Amino acid sequence: MMDPMTTTATADPVALLDRRFRAAIAVALGDPSLDLDPVIKPSQNPQFGDFQANCAMALAKSRGMNPRELAAKIVAAVDLSGVAHAPEVAGPGFINVKLDLGALSAMLGAMSDADLGVVRVKQTYGVTVDLCGVNVAKQMHVGHLRATIIGDCLARVFERLGRDVHRENHLGDWGLPIAMTLASLRRQRIDLDRITLDDLNDAYRAAQAASRDDEAGLAAAMATGAGPHRIAELSLQCTDAQIAVEDAKRTLVRLQSGDPELVRDWQKLIDCTMREVFRTTGILNVRLGPEHSRGESFFRERLPKVVEEFLASGLAKEDRGAIVVPFADRERPLLIRKSDGGFLYATTDLAAVRFRVQDLLSDRVVYVVDGRQRDHFKDVFDAADLIGWNRLPDGSRATITHLGFGAVLGKDKRPLKTRSGENFTLIELLEEASERGTAEVSRRAGDPNAPTHGMSDAELAAIGQAVGIAAVKYADLSGDVMRDYVFDLDRMIAFEGDTGPYIQYAHARIASILAKSEAAIDSIRAAPFVVREPAERLLALHLLRYGAMVQETAIALEPSRICSYLQTLANLFNGFYQACPVLKADDATARTARLRLCDLTRRVLADGLDLLGIVAPSRM
Ligand code: ARG
Repeated sequence: MMDPMTTTATADPVALLDRRFRAAIAVALGDPSLDLDPVIKPSQNPQFGDFQANCAMALAKSRGMNPRELAAKIVAAVDLSGVAHAPEVAGPGFINVKLDLGALSAMLGAMSDADLGVVRVKQTYGVTVDLCGVNVAKQMHVGHLRATIIGDCLARVFERLGRDVHRENHLGDWGLPIAMTLASLRRQRIDLDRITLDDLNDAYRAAQAASRDDEAGLAAAMATGAGPHRIAELSLQCTDAQIAVEDAKRTLVRLQSGDPELVRDWQKLIDCTMREVFRTTGILNVRLGPEHSRGESFFRERLPKVVEEFLASGLAKEDRGAIVVPFADRERPLLIRKSDGGFLYATTDLAAVRFRVQDLLSDRVVYVVDGRQRDHFKDVFDAADLIGWNRLPDGSRATITHLGFGAVLGKDKRPLKTRSGENFTLIELLEEASERGTAEVSRRAGDPNAPTHGMSDAELAAIGQAVGIAAVKYADLSGDVMRDYVFDLDRMIAFEGDTGPYIQYAHARIASILAKSEAAIDSIRAAPFVVREPAERLLALHLLRYGAMVQETAIALEPSRICSYLQTLANLFNGFYQACPVLKADDATARTARLRLCDLTRRVLADGLDLLGIVAPSRM
């Protein structure tokens, strides 16, 4: 049952051992058709070897066999020639495996040649990542930070695995609030070519406030006998509000019917918003361009059809003039058309699900959106499933997930605010992080031995920005996506500990070692891998896990796996560098072999940081 193709070409020892042990289990149990999981795990203690096959206990139990005897049979059957030393049975039936040096070097070689061990698989369908999700005429706030960087990271991971990725910025560019802002700006004859996002934001808020229908307030004021002035003020607000709402509705109708002047002005609001968004995503090193925005307006023509098709299929019904989709398992129905004929956020999202699965042809759709929208997405996805809009042309169902994220909190554990009590805008936060990064990098450059010593202010500022942004992104990506976290720049920006700058620093340090060696990179890469010392072995085994880690990250949708992988890699490298002299190795062969490990480690650190969307400077 040996598979000769996998002896040298693979860079993943777990996959290789899995195949070999799978075959051995079938032999040991005397049934060639069996295909059972050998449960290959990295060893907890390197004394016992590199890996364990932990299957014997459970398999023996379900078959009424003695687990140690079954383990011995599997060991007798397994073919590990050219891969590992003879395996040993330990304890209740663990099988310990230690890779042989030749196999280890060959796998490192394979990994170094082929995409660092990440297997790219061409697939029929693509992946859609819903990210960013900003709203026109509103500042990006800290919540959009998460939607943007988590989404970008997952998009990069899927791309790294060879998938076609659609980044979809479901821009909030349509509906009454936008029309209201537009109407109010036009009433005030404001020059839309010169407007900033701050102005827009103010106009948006003012328009919202002006339209707030305060009839409830008026009724309460009358009932509690508020003074005549207050009552007059409130009733005035009601009529003003009605005027503003009427004006906005008219504007929306004209916009909908394609009135050229209005459409042009509306486009100016979008451009103004997106200029600011792209400035921010540029600083964030996020891949997002105009081609990734497909706003709510894109779906507006499709909304009547959404409702019609739900009605025609009998899945929706009328309820007091509104149209709702009821669910069998819960009270709350999904509202898809209001009694005044207006469509909703959910109606647009239904059109968007269908578009993503059936037009963009994605078999995986991931929505990186605030966790508080959980019920909304549950309803939308369930309704899409009822009507079959999650079905691909081959009839299979796309996997659609809302990856809801938690809030970003201040040190007081409350939503992040500036000193004056305002919500932080994203750009302010990033500017502060860049300044802090630059201060730290410049301070270190003062040391005459630092590789950055003597660099120009502009160069130091570029590295400083990379460090500051890495700090923010890593802190965000290294935790559980669902959890709230505290924004603490002091902790995030430290060069030690579980931080982005720590990983960047490890990378820069290796780059310096390689530069100092004065060895040509080609000659380093032509040298064989030699793995003798325990610290080299631990480093090598972790390097070989890279491809599997990227794969697992895509399946679990957990960027934190990349962070902890890189953190461990940086630590193992430091352990190796302490235990094994590189530049001062005993002889030239050992020196080149160790430089080769340095080079591979550096490349994996850079690749992993790139998946996080973090820049890896070669000097820090
Ligand atoms: N604009 C929305 C908001 O700020 C987020 C959009 C998320 N994506 C979606 N398909 N609904 O809440």
